[in-house]
Amino acid sequence: LMNKPRLPVIWLHFQECTCCSESFIRSSHPMVADILLDQISLDYTETLMAASGFQAEAAMQDTMKKYKGELEGSIPTAADGVYCCIGGKSALQILEETAANAKAIIAWGSCATHGCVQAAKPNPTKATPVRKLISGKPIINVPGCPPIGEVMAGVIVHVVTFGTIPELDSLGRPKAFYSKRVHDSCQRRPYYDAGMFVESFDDEAAKKGYCLYKVGCKGPSTYNACGVMKWNNGVSNPIISGHGCIGCSEENYWDNGRLYERA
Ligand code: SF4
Ligand code: SF4
Ligand code: F3S
Repeated sequence: LMNKPRLPVIWLHFQECTCCSESFIRSSHPMVADILLDQISLDYTETLMAASGFQAEAAMQDTMKKYKGELEGSIPTAADGVYCCIGGKSALQILEETAANAKAIIAWGSCATHGCVQAAKPNPTKATPVRKLISGKPIINVPGCPPIGEVMAGVIVHVVTFGTIPELDSLGRPKAFYSKRVHDSCQRRPYYDAGMFVESFDDEAAKKGYCLYKVGCKGPSTYNACGVMKWNNGVSNPIISGHGCIGCSEENYWDNGRLYERA
């Protein structure tokens, strides 16, 4: 693996908050530095690259002529895409140009996979996920707001190591990380099974760590690796820290989830 040429990557940022990048750079197993220095050549990314302006645009053009791509963020399609422009081009134009020569597209986070908060009603910019705009290319959907850093790193390592797309489910998500519900590996699950629930966030049951279903936890209908891999180097996840899962990896969770209502 160390002797392979590094896989060139263009990491685009459109309508998003950049926390998917923040999550990625905190991956500890594998270390993100090992991925960036040994496995991929991250030729363009607004967040991490030293170059800016014309230099940055030239780097993207050079790489596009030769190689591939990744994406963070949704794409506004209202008003000819005017709501998100970079270097004089709309996000949609940049996406289409970059996708043309890409071996595969990785849609990082719920913005790129589902539209996320920008696509919530009334979706004034007509924010649209990648899979509804690009066809004819493999698209790996890695939802979550953000996805777990080690999940993102794991997807990259799979592509680099095997030269193939990881096995995906019917929604284009890597099965290795999205085949189980958060509920299936939750440490509060014995309380759920025993019918012992938190009724309000300041009651005795909350202090004792009972199940958060009645205060809105969406773990039973959310597919993600938060229970197995956890966050912050495998230390915790939202439920362990006392807040129910809001279903951040599920489509339309802002509109459909009724965040603090029982599912
Ligand atoms: Fe930010 Fe969430 Fe969008 Fe990632 S999916 S860029 S964390 S809003
Ligand atoms: Fe399921 Fe949520 Fe209860 Fe955990 S806290 S057992 S995920 S309902
Ligand atoms: Fe998101 Fe639920 Fe995990 S809110 S971070 S899928 S526990």
